[in-house]
Amino acid sequence: MPAVTFQTSGKIIEIDKDANLLRTSIRYEGSVPYKCGGGLCGTCKVRIVAGHENLSKVMKKEVDRLGEEKIKEGYRLACQTFITGDVTVAWGEEDLERLKKIAERRINAAK
Ligand code: FES
Repeated sequence: MPAVTFQTSGKIIEIDKDANLLRTSIRYEGSVPYKCGGGLCGTCKVRIVAGHENLSKVMKKEVDRLGEEKIKEGYRLACQTFITGDVTVAWGEEDLERLKKIAERRINAAK
């Protein structure tokens, strides 16, 4: 059985082959953020840390929402992605970087 590692939340789940990544996260509390569940909002954007080869092919909705560059960098929409083998995913890293830069700017401005 394939294993999904939700790196950000620290969960590892064994699943049936061809399970949807977002549904797996919801069902087993993997904690991938989401809103629409239909490839429209982009909230479920995850970075594939390992196991690109164990995912379904990239859907048009993913290209439309994320853009070719993010896809090449290894990002996918969890709600549009199905798992065929072991995979590790992470999310929210860009938000953390952005918040860190804002905090640094504010600290420097207060000096
Ligand atoms: S949950 Fe909205 S695009 Fe996946």
